[in-house]
Amino acid sequence: MVKICCIGAGYVGGPTMAVIALKCPAIEVAVVDISKPRIDAWNSDRLPIYEPGLDEVVKECRGRNLFFSTDVEKHVAEADIIFVSVNTPTKTRGLGAGKAADLTYWESAARMIADVSKSDKIIVEKSTVPVKTAEAIEKILTHNSKGINYQILSNPEFLAEGTAIEDLFKPDRVLIGGRETPGGKKAVQALKEVYAHWVPEDRIITTNLWSAELSKLAANAFLAQRISSVNAISALCEATGANVSEVAYAVGKDSRIGPRFLNASVGFGGSCFQKDILNLVYICECNGLPEVSNYWKQVIKINDYQKSRFVNRVVSSMFNTVSGKKIAVLGFAFKKDTGDTRETPAIDVCHGLLGDKAQISIYDPQVTEDQIQRDLAMSKFDWDHPMHLQPTSPTAFKQVSVVWDAYEATKGAHGVCILTEWDEFKTLDYQKIFDNMQKPAFVFDGRNMVDPEKLREIGFIVYSIGKPLDAWLKDMPAVV
Ligand code: NAD
Ligand code: UDX
Repeated sequence: MVKICCIGAGYVGGPTMAVIALKCPAIEVAVVDISKPRIDAWNSDRLPIYEPGLDEVVKECRGRNLFFSTDVEKHVAEADIIFVSVNTPTKTRGLGAGKAADLTYWESAARMIADVSKSDKIIVEKSTVPVKTAEAIEKILTHNSKGINYQILSNPEFLAEGTAIEDLFKPDRVLIGGRETPGGKKAVQALKEVYAHWVPEDRIITTNLWSAELSKLAANAFLAQRISSVNAISALCEATGANVSEVAYAVGKDSRIGPRFLNASVGFGGSCFQKDILNLVYICECNGLPEVSNYWKQVIKINDYQKSRFVNRVVSSMFNTVSGKKIAVLGFAFKKDTGDTRETPAIDVCHGLLGDKAQISIYDPQVTEDQIQRDLAMSKFDWDHPMHLQPTSPTAFKQVSVVWDAYEATKGAHGVCILTEWDEFKTLDYQKIFDNMQKPAFVFDGRNMVDPEKLREIGFIVYSIGKPLDAWLKDMPAVV
């Protein structure tokens, strides 16, 4: 029986291994982590992450050929194939701080593998890493090898949160990079056989190691670039009376461009886009390519601009101050169908509103008060260090309350900010919300969820990203 071990039981390691276990009953899969609370949650009825369809997959395989454990060394020693899916955060200090990937967790996993291994292993880079990481890992392993043969493969993960199970069941492609030596080719073939249990062969791409590592950073940069492109156009739409949804539709009809990932928003969030683009920017700088690094940096600058533009609209429309005013925030997760708040634009928007002394009432169907308070208290990039998974008791922001109902959040509010595109926000009773709010009542739709005309009929003053401004907003031009 082939044995797989995955180091890192997070958003990638957990769902990916659960699907491998489901599709390959003859393979034993152990997912290990240094975080005991995380492993305990994987072994309980309440999994540590919310992902549609995940519960069912885990229920079917856990205890059969899928195991979650903190006994990292035992499972690593026993495995034939080891996936490494640990955090690769942005460095917070030292050389490359604020840009370069911090490979501390990866390096410590590699050293541990070298320490405990007694048989040949295939090591699979599942984490997103800088191009050439495999070379560094190879050096660590071979210098400590005790005669053991290690083959390093790059197999980046392309799943998106909220659709992880769907994406894993039917991936657009599986990418495997390896050495072009006989040993490297054999290892690529072994991993290909795992995926071939359910992925059609023409969707399994094999490349050299550096192409695979770089393709992941490039794919995320391209995706984020589309959002920044449409968001940049949204600002121009507001200035000219064009409608960004109409523009995106017309542009996306061109089959060379395509319709997906052109939704203007308050900005992209999530654990990957910003981190991976910063990583790409740093790699370009290190390779003496300042023009290329500046090009990609601009994708992040537009994203930051989009978030601050949104806050400025809120404040300027409400007579240039939100001090002491109640602002309801609907949605805190970085996208719908996930409880993940890493790099969510809601953090920056809330910080902006708190900076102007607003009272904020937040409702998100999947995010707890503890999580929100922790996010608001955390320094930039600290979220991606395993320490933050340990329970802490942050000093709560007194101006922030978290409630479990959209009507409660909006009761007595001066304004409503929609920051996550949860489906349920489309069907709220906006008349009831209007009746219970202060007047004039404002809606700032950061996800273009509501029909602005319908809300205007109720009496709201509505701001939608990239849509023609209503008269009120034109009279109160924002500093954007
Ligand atoms: P995560 O924080 O959810 O999970 C990482 C886990 O690794 C944590 O539980 C942590 O405790 C554990 N860990 C860290 N060091 C360890 C060690 N030495 N031994 C054992 N466990 C250790 O992170 P994630 O979202 O799953 O991302 C993991 C990697 O996958 C990152 O490189 C990320 O860029 C990449 N990625 C993420 C996504 C996504 O949607 N989240 C998608 C594609 C790729
Ligand atoms: C992303 C990549 O899509 C995925 O392939 C990679 O493996 C990990 O990073 P994820 O961050 O989970 O996935 O979600 P994604 O759907 O890409 O959304 C990222 C952010 O962009 C979210 O905040 C989302 O709301 C925003 N977004 C997305 C837009 O603002 N507009 C869009 O048109 C699409």
